[in-house]
Amino acid sequence: VKDDAEEKKFNNNTKDLLDIMAFYSRVSGSVGVITLQNPPVNALSAAVRQGIVDTMHRALSEPEVKSVVICGQNGKFCGGADIREFRANMRGPPLVPMIHLIEAAEKPVVAAIEGVALGGGLELALGCHYRIAHSKARLGLPEVTLGLLPGAGGTQRLPRLIGVPAALELITTGRHATAAEALQLGIVDEVTDHSAVDAAVKFAQSVAGKSLDARRISTYPCPRSPDLAEIFEKAMQEVRRSARGAIAPVTCVQAVHASVTLPYAKGMERERELFSTLFTSGQAHALQYYFFAQRAVSRWSTPSGARWDTSKPRPVHKAAVIGLGTMGRGITVSLAQAGLSVVAVETQEKQLLEAKQAVSGMLERSAKRRGAPLAHDKIKYSCSIQAVADVDLVIEAVFEDMALKKTIFQQLSGICKPGTFLCTNTSGLDIDELASQTQSPELVVGMHFFAPAHVMKLLEVVYGPRSSPEALATAMEMGKKMGKVSVAVGNCRGFVGNRMLKPYLEQAFFLLEEGATPEQVDQVLEEFGFAMGVFKVSDLSGLDVGWKVRKADGLVVPGSTGKSARIRGGSRYSPLGDLLCEQGRFGQKTGRGWYQYDKPGGRVAKPDPWLHGFLEEYRARHGLVARRIDHQEMLERCLYALINEGFQILQDGIAAGPEDIDVIYVLGYGWPRHRGGPMFYAGLVGLDKVLERLEHYHQVYPNVSGLKPCSLIRKLAASSSPPIHRWREFIQKPRSQL
Ligand code: CAA
Ligand code: NAI
Repeated sequence: VKDDAEEKKFNNNTKDLLDIMAFYSRVSGSVGVITLQNPPVNALSAAVRQGIVDTMHRALSEPEVKSVVICGQNGKFCGGADIREFRANMRGPPLVPMIHLIEAAEKPVVAAIEGVALGGGLELALGCHYRIAHSKARLGLPEVTLGLLPGAGGTQRLPRLIGVPAALELITTGRHATAAEALQLGIVDEVTDHSAVDAAVKFAQSVAGKSLDARRISTYPCPRSPDLAEIFEKAMQEVRRSARGAIAPVTCVQAVHASVTLPYAKGMERERELFSTLFTSGQAHALQYYFFAQRAVSRWSTPSGARWDTSKPRPVHKAAVIGLGTMGRGITVSLAQAGLSVVAVETQEKQLLEAKQAVSGMLERSAKRRGAPLAHDKIKYSCSIQAVADVDLVIEAVFEDMALKKTIFQQLSGICKPGTFLCTNTSGLDIDELASQTQSPELVVGMHFFAPAHVMKLLEVVYGPRSSPEALATAMEMGKKMGKVSVAVGNCRGFVGNRMLKPYLEQAFFLLEEGATPEQVDQVLEEFGFAMGVFKVSDLSGLDVGWKVRKADGLVVPGSTGKSARIRGGSRYSPLGDLLCEQGRFGQKTGRGWYQYDKPGGRVAKPDPWLHGFLEEYRARHGLVARRIDHQEMLERCLYALINEGFQILQDGIAAGPEDIDVIYVLGYGWPRHRGGPMFYAGLVGLDKVLERLEHYHQVYPNVSGLKPCSLIRKLAASSSPPIHRWREFIQKPRSQL
């Protein structure tokens, strides 16, 4: 029976001390219930930790209380340490002694896990003597994704509880396990479909007074097996291979190793030592910045003042995709898996048949691999564009050809019911020009997916000058429904991602002209952490794609010789990509590109002696003398040209803030997450340093406009390089766009 007046007094006293806390109540006379209260995820802020310590002491001191339940408010146990506090001075009781207080208690403590038990949240639960989870709960130690390791005993308790191999896997990947898996692994003792708190209270009553000797995980010996050394060696190899330079996964393996080689107390010391190294690292800073950046992009705004919180999306139940090639197929799958009815249109009979088969295969594979819904019955195929008359939203994904897309938009404008949103998956064409083909240009936006569209998380949502806030909000919401991270960007050539790619690629070409090989440039970029170097990516996506665009822009002048061959509009130009295409070298699809492959469609890139000879002959023809270019120059020229364009994009109001650019580059272009994104990286290097190097390279190559520092980076550097969250204050508001 609760003693309400007393509880209120106790809780109010605690509240006086600190704002948020853990709420204490007594249930059925003998169970002390501690409820974490820190919406939205009950993160373990200083105040919550203080609350837990206070309420634990109270539960332990009350003679009527025989057992304790710890749970979280609003159906969420705990999302872990409060990440926002990491960059501030440490306040409140530390996590490790707080968890020891719970584990050492002489009354049984049961964790009632609903929603999530992540990071410090799971470590708190591991300090309890029993764990009961709701069947929908997710549990994990995702610290590695924040550049950390589970520093509140997770690396020492989890292997003791579930064994080294399973603990290593969970800790180094940071993945969330389902309640069923947690039960199977032995992380939780019971799973319920009903209230985990009610079940935990009942359970707590049943174990009151029983010995806790066998329930304190820190006292367990770490399970040993003869192949432990091999297990650690393999784990280390695996994280080194996949980490692309990230230090946290490697450090996680070292910390778990300590659980095997050291007694618990010493292992905890080692964990603390390793945690401190990670905590102050630039990588942890970058990953934590990125965690918030990925969430911040959903709070979009445009230069004209349209905003996420004042613009309402319209519901979309039925959508259409026009053009079922590489992209259209993936988009169809994504829409159907999100539960929408889809009309998939492809005018050529043969293509339509192929597309049907491909889409079915994709649905089946993602059902098998990720448990995605099969959703075959959500899709209706058609050869006629007339079939889209009653849909709420269309996504056009035909060839990247302005004339063709214009015709399609004219047709759609006539066929679709009034109010249908008309979207294009163009990689960079003018949204406004397409909008002008329709009767309702306010309904037109870009939805730029990335290949493969049903897998890649990024969606650039492009608003033109006439797109309505409602159209933008609807496309953003659709992206979310499809499980994408949607970033709103303004309308310009290439939008954000592809626009920044241009000067980056350009520098890579120039480096080849000056003496580098594709292998050298790629190696430098891969060592930096890119999943693939620029030339390997180019081979993968097809050299002909950029060639077509350059041809349409009048940049490709076949057979041009002398100085003019390498100059366009007064700026330096490298025709190397065009020359390869003229030879039919389109990359992987033709088995030859910047590298050679064993067959057309082959995946393994091998250096190609033909290409090296071709480069030598090209340099000789143009009077270029090859020189040895060091790693630093290759990296700086590629990255700083890309970053400079990023600043120009901010200045032009095409991206609302640096977070938008960083999320686009990490999710869409293989930028290493542990480096935060290009704009964050620029801040980490130092804006004055980036500026100084750009100035230097621009002096050496005055006819390369991409190296001319943009005025925003100058302005920021002149203002003592403010931290990234203050950059927006330095961006002049461009003219209204919406
Ligand atoms: N600290 C601070 N804020 C957090 C947080 C945390 N641990 N977890 C979530 N939030 C915030 C988010 O930033 C977001 O804030 P805004 O609304 O202002 O953007 C809000 O809570 C809701 O989060 P989501 O939008 O992500 O909500 P969701 O329902 O989609 O996901 C979640 C919930 C699965 C818990 C997800 O937020 C998540 O993965 N959180 C991080 C969990 C984590 O990594 N915990 C480990 C922390 S490190 C640690 O614990 C160290 C240690 O051992 C000592
Ligand atoms: P693709 O060549 O694989 O497919 C285009 C499809 O459109 C073909 O199946 C073609 O038959 C069909 N088509 C042509 N005219 C049509 C019409 N009038 N009605 C119906 N279908 C028609 O092209 P891909 O790669 O899928 O690209 C499509 C669009 O997506 C382009 O605008 C491209 O720039 C863009 N994009 C491509 C990416 C990629 O990596 N391939 C990435 C992001 C965007």
